[in-house]
Amino acid sequence: MTSKIVILGVFVADTAYRTDRQPRIGETILGKSFALGPGGKGSNQAVAAAKAGGDVHFITRLGDDIFAQMAHDTWDAAGVIPEVTIDHESYTGAAYIFIDDNTGDNAIIVSPGAAGRISVADVEAKTQLIQSADVFVTQFEQPMEAAHRALEIARAGGTKTILNPAPAAAVSDDMLALCDYITPNETEAEGITGIAVKTPDDAARAADWLLDHGVGAAIVTLGAQGVFYKDREIALHVPAIEAGKLVETTGAGDAFNGGFAVALAEGMSAEQALRFGCATAGISVTRPGTAPSMPDRSEIDALLD
Ligand code: RIB
Ligand code: NA
Repeated sequence: MTSKIVILGVFVADTAYRTDRQPRIGETILGKSFALGPGGKGSNQAVAAAKAGGDVHFITRLGDDIFAQMAHDTWDAAGVIPEVTIDHESYTGAAYIFIDDNTGDNAIIVSPGAAGRISVADVEAKTQLIQSADVFVTQFEQPMEAAHRALEIARAGGTKTILNPAPAAAVSDDMLALCDYITPNETEAEGITGIAVKTPDDAARAADWLLDHGVGAAIVTLGAQGVFYKDREIALHVPAIEAGKLVETTGAGDAFNGGFAVALAEGMSAEQALRFGCATAGISVTRPGTAPSMPDRSEIDALLD
């Protein structure tokens, strides 16, 4: 089955620190452990989608440096086809990830570097590629104008669009109307709709708001509570799918989006596609890291069996 997916977004090197708490200003504390690995929401989604069986192209900008090499090694291993502009005036980005050693919760600073300079012209240069895809996916780590233009191009070409509005930002009605699917988590849903989201019932209210503002379908990801889906015909609450002991939830949203994109491109029903995304995320949280924790198709199929 061919399922062509084009993703616009950011690669960064994730630097993950496990400690009991974050340092205060002026303070130095000792960490319990450190890990360096590939990350960035768009790149994580591309890796997840490629490993889940998609034919995936990833549009981004990188510097000309050691982390750019890490990006290419990561994509080669996962089978992601890079669509990269090298930016000699900037650097490949990095993210500081604090992981609370007691709860597994995280707090992140992402500096996108070169990918923060992705331009409307970069996106327009990929018009044919975007319009030849079954599904287009983007997020908000690169500039909003680039995301907006890419969604316009995808819509004009009949490519299904998924917007993962992360990190949280206000989203214009113009942009919402270009989304076949929007996939905020609780915080992002609140940032867009102003409705506090903690439960599936709250998610239903936020989804109604998003549908009223022109999205085709709203999918609110609720962590351990799974995902809530609503379009103009159906509403569904799909519980999280457990695949083992929880290790690290960073990147779980990316796993969901990558898996969901593949399922959608393959023509699965909404419910099947949501379960496919939840299984992808469910496996990813049993492993450390973000991109390195994305499962193969065979693992997803086995969990859903
Ligand atoms: O969604 C997780 C990702 O967000 C991490 O890989 C980190 O790079 C941040 O961009
Ligand atoms: Na993980």
